[in-house]
Amino acid sequence: MPEKKRKEEKTGSRRASPVGPNTVVIFGAGGDLTRSKLVPALYNLAKAGLLPDQFAVLGVSRVEKSDEAFREELAPAVEELASAGFDRDLWERLATRFHYIQGDFTEPAMYEKLVSRLEEIDGIAATGGNHLYYLASPPRFFAEIVERLDEAGLVRETEESWRRVVVEKPFGESLESAGELNRRLLSILDEHQIFRIDHYLGKETVQNILVFRFANSILEPIWNRRYVDHVQITMAERSGIGGRGGYYDQAGALRDMVPNHVFQLLSLIAMEPPTSFHPDAIRNEKAKVLQSVQPMDAEEVLRRTVRGQYGRRAGDESEEIRGYREESRVDPESRTETYVAMKILIDNWRWADVPFFLRTGKRLAERSTEIVIQFKRAPLILFRRIGVGNLNPNLLVIRIQPDEGIWLRIGAKIPGPSVRIGDVEMDFCYADTFGTGPATGYETLLYDCMRGDATLFSRADNLEAAWRIVQPVLDVWSALPPRDFPNYAAGSWGPEEADRLIAPEGRSWRNEI
Ligand code: BG6
Repeated sequence: MPEKKRKEEKTGSRRASPVGPNTVVIFGAGGDLTRSKLVPALYNLAKAGLLPDQFAVLGVSRVEKSDEAFREELAPAVEELASAGFDRDLWERLATRFHYIQGDFTEPAMYEKLVSRLEEIDGIAATGGNHLYYLASPPRFFAEIVERLDEAGLVRETEESWRRVVVEKPFGESLESAGELNRRLLSILDEHQIFRIDHYLGKETVQNILVFRFANSILEPIWNRRYVDHVQITMAERSGIGGRGGYYDQAGALRDMVPNHVFQLLSLIAMEPPTSFHPDAIRNEKAKVLQSVQPMDAEEVLRRTVRGQYGRRAGDESEEIRGYREESRVDPESRTETYVAMKILIDNWRWADVPFFLRTGKRLAERSTEIVIQFKRAPLILFRRIGVGNLNPNLLVIRIQPDEGIWLRIGAKIPGPSVRIGDVEMDFCYADTFGTGPATGYETLLYDCMRGDATLFSRADNLEAAWRIVQPVLDVWSALPPRDFPNYAAGSWGPEEADRLIAPEGRSWRNEI
């Protein structure tokens, strides 16, 4: 059977069809996200035949430039990130649909310009007046852009045309500001028009968590407090903060990663089976998980959270890594955390008393994003009588980065006359089985917004529930500034205190790749 056909059969589904006519308007079109993610993802969709002929892109940014200059500056990143090889002809055809206007997001005059340019583009490209406004701007402009679009009559939907808004992260910086942003957006838009993006949900293995859990009958019976000892969610990054010191020093690891990416994984792993694959059915169950997380008072914050900041790693030139406080645009006395670990408890029937240990950090030993489900140990009595004192627990690891896959650790008899037990692994690697996935992680997300499918996007209540868990931690941490920063060396697995967080009852982080 031809390879392509074999892969399609393995997927058990029909091929995706192109989205309907539309114009994507990108606010912040001069930024890195547009160049390195959005446009390469649009190209990859075009290559896969998923964009219609009636399609256009309109970039909006502060710098003056022509349509041609805009197209030319995008080409190198597209060439680099094209998932199935770069097809220059295809890019050149697609690039003719890219347009650009210069303007200040806060100036009503810019929106007048936008109205007439959109009319013109909709006319040429026959996009049916369907607009996807992508807010890739600095977050302080999110609400204002939507308000100005509304004043210009650009967000009102009609029978014939849809209007949707994609909001990038960070969505707020506290419970209050996230709530305020939701209120401002929802005073103009209907929830079905808002797509709050979390790029983790564009990753194949993250989407696969739902399929893995709910398309396989063998997991459900053991996916609960009777069998699961604890869960670990790790999002470890080897890299530092790059050129993002200005943003990061204000945000810190907790705000940057936890209410969004980490909690998305937590919700998918812990949620109840949804009643259907309808976006709201899934988002209802995800919201319930976060609503069931046991709130932490100040004392519990101190007991159940760990923060860290990386310091310089000494060594020769090849080994040396500078500390966080030496990074550009970071306060030399910064108290911002670059690492966070926490123990979460979910108060529901499925998970009562099962700890969920979450951690994320910059400049750690490896780049590794994974979820580890550690099952309870088998009773030892049977094997103790024949001299086997210690059995390792079964582990199920859902690996999201760098190589996506799922593996299961089980104990097996080592061949020979005596009974000796060793660990063996059953493993499934995405790339080996299905070939490599989309290159940027934004393909599915963009495709879904253009189709109006909000399954992979956060709803207002999900986000606010996430901030409600994080807010007490932010409050306690700001009231009690850290005294031991920097407290882990760049290139290590984080502060020792994080090992102590998980250590009671003999547990430990899985620090391997
Ligand atoms: C972003 C954070 O949302 O996610 C970054 O702002 C982080 O600080 C990044 O590095 C991690 O994403 P990925 O896909 O590289 O794991």
